[in-house]
Order: sequence, then structure tokens, then C-alpha cells
Amino acid sequence: MSDTATLKIGNDTYTLPTIVGTEGERAIDVKPLRRESGHITLDPGFLNTGSCRSEITFIDGERGVLRYRGYPIEQLAEQSSFLEVAYLLTQGALPSPSALTEWEQRITRHTLVHEDMKRMYEAFPPNAHPMAILSAAVSALSTFYQDEVDPLDPDQVQINTIRLLAKVPTIAAFSLKRSQGHRYTYPDNGLSYAGRLLKMMFGYGTEPYELDEDQESALDKLLILHADHEQNCSTTTVRIVGSSKANLYASISSGISALWGPLHGGANQAVIEMLETIQNDSDGIDKYVRLARDKSSGFRLMGFGHRVYKSYDPRAKILKGAADKILAGLGQKDPLLDVARRLEEVALEDSYFREKNLYPNVDFYSGIIYRAMGIPVNMFTVMFALGRLPGWIAHWREGNEQGLPIGRPRQIYTGSGERPYVPVGQREE
Ligand code: SDX
Repeated sequence: MSDTATLKIGNDTYTLPTIVGTEGERAIDVKPLRRESGHITLDPGFLNTGSCRSEITFIDGERGVLRYRGYPIEQLAEQSSFLEVAYLLTQGALPSPSALTEWEQRITRHTLVHEDMKRMYEAFPPNAHPMAILSAAVSALSTFYQDEVDPLDPDQVQINTIRLLAKVPTIAAFSLKRSQGHRYTYPDNGLSYAGRLLKMMFGYGTEPYELDEDQESALDKLLILHADHEQNCSTTTVRIVGSSKANLYASISSGISALWGPLHGGANQAVIEMLETIQNDSDGIDKYVRLARDKSSGFRLMGFGHRVYKSYDPRAKILKGAADKILAGLGQKDPLLDVARRLEEVALEDSYFREKNLYPNVDFYSGIIYRAMGIPVNMFTVMFALGRLPGWIAHWREGNEQGLPIGRPRQIYTGSGERPYVPVGQREE
């Protein structure tokens, strides 16, 4: 196939280079377009626009394929650990046994936050949404290291990578404790990453904490499944903020805010709220599938549909398969899981969902598992952020290593033409 694209505008013809990715994805390089033709491309929401070349994650939305640095998500979820996946994403390869041990030890020794950070929590109302606290706290974290946040200094980038991976779980768990009016549980460095997080969230200083291994392994799997997803909304946000050479903490803080939206990472909280509404409505599931088909209703099936996956989200498939086992292991039965399965069945038989290729996404089942662990609903998106952290860091590092220019899209202006200013005394009411 030709390695150029020909564009005909009026009587003029332009030739543009094309690019082919590792898995055969194809792109037209429009860098010369405006200079040569006076035209820009217009693609709100970037449905057809690539922002960069990347070596981190590959998704095939038609075939439901997801790989981190070439490794299939199914194998990583089954055989790897979250900290190993964080190394793979941020360092670019699977670690040797000694590198993994050193990586785990380095992260474990940075789990404490400065005691002054605790005062920040007192500034929030007790019912503050933990995503607001997380975004503010991660940005505030930079002030404790503000003399060593140079995005172009590899040693500073590495130590801040370690600090964020180590401290963000502590910050998240402290915000949960604060919302409950409980004393903070400090990190226990004798535990695994997931085990430490569970103990900080559910441990009390008044008694020993019995770590449930099923919970620990389920949480580690959930973190792996959320670790990266190429150029999604929050990762694109992290990249574009990083492109201004903003420090890593500021860039991650912006990604947290983008993830909070109900169309993105906030969907896992919205899914549970939707399932509870359906469960409590005697009209049942068919009513909500009908509402979702009806644009004027403004209702969407949360946890369904995806910009890239036009087939079953492989993460949802893994979580759906694991949900029964995890809930059984946790000694939990959740009627919402039955509602979710039934809703999926009805929706996938419905022509509207089939024609639009709307399948369950990662958020559809994750909330049921978080719920079974006793994690409050308003912490679900925080759990998503904890998983996505290494992916955000990896993309921020890649953007800086690639020396990409500052992100600054063009636009097509459709406002008023030039007109003279009218002093307020001469304007009509
Ligand atoms: C995540 O990008 C990523 O990789 C994200 C993510 C990650 O790991 O980072 O995978 C995580 O954010 C998963 C998505 C979580 N969000 C939800 O579950 C919210 C519900 N889903 C949607 O709102 C929607 O599907 C999106 C936002 C996820 C995708 O939106 P798109 O690609 O912009 O698609 P669209 O909104 O244009 O929908 C296409 C059509 C529309 O109908 P038409 O205009 O063609 O007639 O499908 C309809 C939509 O109305 N549609 C839905 C629907 N999702 C899309 N109709 C009913 N229920 C839904 N859930």
C-alpha cells in the first residue's frame, strides 16, 4: 500500500506522508497540511486524530485486544503483580528478579507523606469527595520536593515516579479515614502494595488487622486492569499538561480531575448508583434499556459503550469472569451482580446496543467488586486513579523523552466578524 496519501482540494492536489504502526494501524501525517494547503483538520473529541506515537499500550477495539508493552492484559492480570506492571509501564520492560526486588523496596520506603500534609485534610469538609482531595493533595505533594521536579532530569523524574507510586495510596487512604472521622492508619511496610492499601483503608490502631488474601489478590488484579489504556481522556490531559513542562505532580493532579468525570473514570460510581436505581424500581431492567435507547431521555447505561472498544472490553470480560470467584472468596453475595448480568444480557440482545457496538466496559463490573470489599462508592474513582497512576506517569515520561512540542490545537472560528465597540451608555437594554 502506498506510503503517501493524496488530497485533492479544488484544483490542487497535495501529497501527505503516511505512517504505519507496529500492528498495522495507519495514519496520515498532516504536519505539512496547513503550510501547503492553508487547511487544518477539524476533529472535535479527536475521534479520528492521533496525538502521538507511543510504545506503551496497544488496543485493538475491534478485536478487544489490550497489551501493555506487548504483553496481553489477560496474562498480566493472571501472572503479574501491580508493582511489576508499574515497572513495565514506567521503565519500559519487565524487571529482572533483582530489579523487581529493588523497585518494590524503593517504593515501600517512600510510603509516608510529610506530617504537614495531614493539616491539608482539615481544610476540607468531612463529606468532601475524595477525588477533590486526591487531586489537591497530589498537586500539594510537589511543594515538599519543589527543588527537584525538573521534567528533563532523569534522576529527578525517577525519584518522583517512586514517590508518587508510594505516596498516592497513603493520601487516598487518609482521605477515607478523614471522611469517617477515624484516625489515620499509617502504611505497614511489611505488606504488599495492595495489602498495605487495604490495611490503611480498613485497619484501626486499636486492633491487629487481619488481611484477607482474596481481597489482596482481587485488589492487585483490579489495579493491574486499570494501569493504562493509551490515549484516554485523563492520559491525554496528563500528556498535554506535561507538554508545557509542568512538573509530574501537577500533571498527575490534572489527570485525576479529568478521570473524575462520569463519562470517564467516574462511571464506576455511576454504575452502582444506576444498578441500585434499577434494583429498586419495580418497572425493572426493560424500562432502563428503553430509556437508554431514547436520546431525549438523557439517560445512558453507565458502564456501557467505549470510544475505542466496539467489542467486549477485555478488562470487563476478566472482571465479569472473576466477580463470582472474588465475591465467593469474600463470602459475599451481591444482588447487584445479578442485576448487572441480567442488564448486560438484555442490552446485548437489543438491536440499539448491537448496532452501536455498545458493550460493557471496565467500569461495569469493577464497582461490584470494590463494593464487596467494603470500599465506599465515592472511593471507586479513587481506586481507578490508583490503578491508572503508572500509566499516566509512563505517558508523561514518554512525552518528555520524545521532546514533543507544547500541545496547542488550532480551531475554526465561527463567531462574529469585526465590529466597533459600543460604549455602555449607547447600548439598548
Ligand atoms: C472509561 O477512553 C478510554 O480508554 C476510557 C477508559 C480507560 O480505561 O481510560 O476505558 C475508561 O472511561 C470507560 C467508559 C466509562 N464511561 C461510561 O461507561 C459512560 C457511558 N458510556 C458513554 O457515555 C460512552 O459510551 C463513552 C463516553 C464511553 C464513549 O462515548 P463516544 O465514543 O463519544 O461515543 P458516543 O457518545 O458518540 O456514542 C456513540 C453512540 C451515540 O449515539 P448516536 O449519537 O450515534 O445516535 O452510542 C450512544 C450515543 O448516544 N451511546 C450510548 C451509550 N454510550 C454511547 N447510549 C446509551 N448508553 C450508553 N452507555
